[in-house]
Amino acid sequence: MSVTFKNNIFYLNTPNTSYMIGIYEGKLPVHLYYGKKISGEISMERALPVKAARGLIPNLPELQEASNAVLPAEYASFGSCDFREPAICLCYPDGSRISKFEYAGYSITKGKPKLKGLPSAYVEDEEEADTLEITLLDKLKAMELTLVYTVYRHCDIITKSVRLKNHSEDKCCIERILSSSFDMANDNYDLITLNGDWCRERHISRTPVFHGYSGVDSKRGASSHQHNPFFCLAGKNTDEKAGDAYGFSLVYSGNFKAGVEVCEVNTIRAMIGINDFGFRWVLTPGEEFYAPEVLLTFSSEGIGEMSRNLNRFIRTRICRGRYRDERRPVLLNNWEATYFDFDEEKIISIAKKAKEAGVELLVLDDGWFGKRNDDTSSLGDWEVNKEKLPNGIDGLAKKVNEEGLKFGLWFEPEMVSPDSDLYRKHPDWCIHTNGRERSLSRNQLILDLSREDVCSFIIDTLSNHLNSANIEYIKWDMNRYMSEAGSALLEPERSGEFYHRYMLGLYHILDTLMSSFPNVLFEGCASGGGRFDPGMLCYFPQIWTSDDSDAIERLSIQYGTSLVYPVSSMGAHVSIVPNHQVHRVCPIKTRGDIAMMGAFGYELDLNALSEEEFEIVKKQIEFSKKYSSIIHKSDLYRLKSPFDSNFAAFEFVSEDRRDVFMLFANILGEPNTILHQVKLQGLEDDAFYKDEETGEVYTGSFLKNIGLFFDNGNGDFRTVFVKLTRQ
Ligand code: GLA
Repeated sequence: MSVTFKNNIFYLNTPNTSYMIGIYEGKLPVHLYYGKKISGEISMERALPVKAARGLIPNLPELQEASNAVLPAEYASFGSCDFREPAICLCYPDGSRISKFEYAGYSITKGKPKLKGLPSAYVEDEEEADTLEITLLDKLKAMELTLVYTVYRHCDIITKSVRLKNHSEDKCCIERILSSSFDMANDNYDLITLNGDWCRERHISRTPVFHGYSGVDSKRGASSHQHNPFFCLAGKNTDEKAGDAYGFSLVYSGNFKAGVEVCEVNTIRAMIGINDFGFRWVLTPGEEFYAPEVLLTFSSEGIGEMSRNLNRFIRTRICRGRYRDERRPVLLNNWEATYFDFDEEKIISIAKKAKEAGVELLVLDDGWFGKRNDDTSSLGDWEVNKEKLPNGIDGLAKKVNEEGLKFGLWFEPEMVSPDSDLYRKHPDWCIHTNGRERSLSRNQLILDLSREDVCSFIIDTLSNHLNSANIEYIKWDMNRYMSEAGSALLEPERSGEFYHRYMLGLYHILDTLMSSFPNVLFEGCASGGGRFDPGMLCYFPQIWTSDDSDAIERLSIQYGTSLVYPVSSMGAHVSIVPNHQVHRVCPIKTRGDIAMMGAFGYELDLNALSEEEFEIVKKQIEFSKKYSSIIHKSDLYRLKSPFDSNFAAFEFVSEDRRDVFMLFANILGEPNTILHQVKLQGLEDDAFYKDEETGEVYTGSFLKNIGLFFDNGNGDFRTVFVKLTRQ
């Protein structure tokens, strides 16, 4: 059992970590510890640092020895003496906002229950995990709060979620309900988050935590390009290889909030969940609310190991379906090759050349429907444009299949253009607030997924297409954020439910489609990586990482993304030069090598390449077919960061530790310097590793301590891909 309960303490143990919750004076859940594994039992008195606290500290009358103003809370409620950021805040019809949740019992069960209406991690076998539910009651208001913990037995991941049930005769408004919140000692931590914008997603920020609140959030209706629903707390000296690192990753794709509060006694409250800004949920008598799940991990072996814990878990217990394990087809997407300017003939000529190179899947992007020849119209009118494609999607799919390729299609199902038949017919189907302008972004509005009729429309539209042609892949795009958020059908008092109801509608649509079409590969996209989160990865095993396809910018984006997400989830394509986003010119080898660290493909017309480049492409595809599955399932070691050097280096060690791949990237050529040394990681000291290109054999300890040397004066934007095999 990975969960036990003794003397008012819950012990949650994974292979290398312990999480301990005490029930203080039999009533209050307190956070005793999370970190490196502690063997045996502890005593609550010794683990709580609060007795020395003096001064003007208020207290709940029934607590004898310590005050809940400074006690490390496991899930703090608002209103009684704890003045830090609460985890939950409820408002009752009498106007009161005070909650007092006290311990009422617990259960421990094998396996992991599903989270109602929300994506969540899973188990394949009940023996993989144990689930602890701690029940807390606010007796005065008849509210029941359940803290849910699933502890995995073979990996260092604990998932947490929360649900609230209203047993009273009155409604109650949830103003905040975080998924995880607990207090821990501030061991001089830094807060690491992933931030950016369109075309430069998930760059890494690291700052010392400071007194007061700091964190990131989204109010955009999607997890966003700007911030990611993740944070890490890392010791001051923690680096990739050593030191304590806590990772928190929210399985949710909408508005979120993630951050820390350092309080007056220098403890940290670490918090993550749905953003309470703009959120207010009316919980009617008998109703239950489920907050999304969060993944927690801890490593005492640096940020690298924290990432490997999350990468492995997300790849195997968040991602699911056929393509979780199956090799992803090498694809070619026509977007940057043609934009809106294509017809059947052009697509087939691209397909023919793609087939010759070894590509396996041809994806037709935006512009195939309605009268969409630019981005000003037709979203919602998902009828094929016969001028461009006289034989329809079915006809095109057949021709592509005849060329020996699978066929995939782009949709942006959540959107509507004001210039569309759908909008003219149903002007109320989009997100809007009466009396306010409907602000456009990329000339489009968002369909109101809090409505059942709209969800059914999307399910029917997609299902009809999937049933009427041999479509084996769908790119599910989403190209704007929410403004004037509101629904024609929500009563005014429920307007604060809108953002979350939208997400529930989206998850319902995706659940339905995934179960009806389990063999279709879905790739997520939101103007690139605007909704790259574990919630989406429960449906889409891969997501278009960024609209920036420039290989050098991708080094940073993919490096930052890998803090949380496995490389198998990162759509990465070779595109044309000069690059369309930054106008940089990188060699085809560099573009291929960097895209190889992801779900590999092309975003160009291969007819435009020189013969020499085309030969390189053929080899890249051959390599990808041979090794991408191994790379995707490997452990990633980040050896050099493009954020603080002129280099980037990534190493992949296969599950069986036999195959080792290393990518070295030299960003700008340097004059008159010595070779650049890169030390490898994760190898066995005494094993021998052979460089497949040079035939050179090294010991693991040599590679780890002396490493490999690379020429860094050989021009700009150069990469070297090394393949080593353990002998
Ligand atoms: C978004 C996507 C692109 C492409 C276009 C099509 O920007 O991120 O990859 O599909 O839409 O309009």
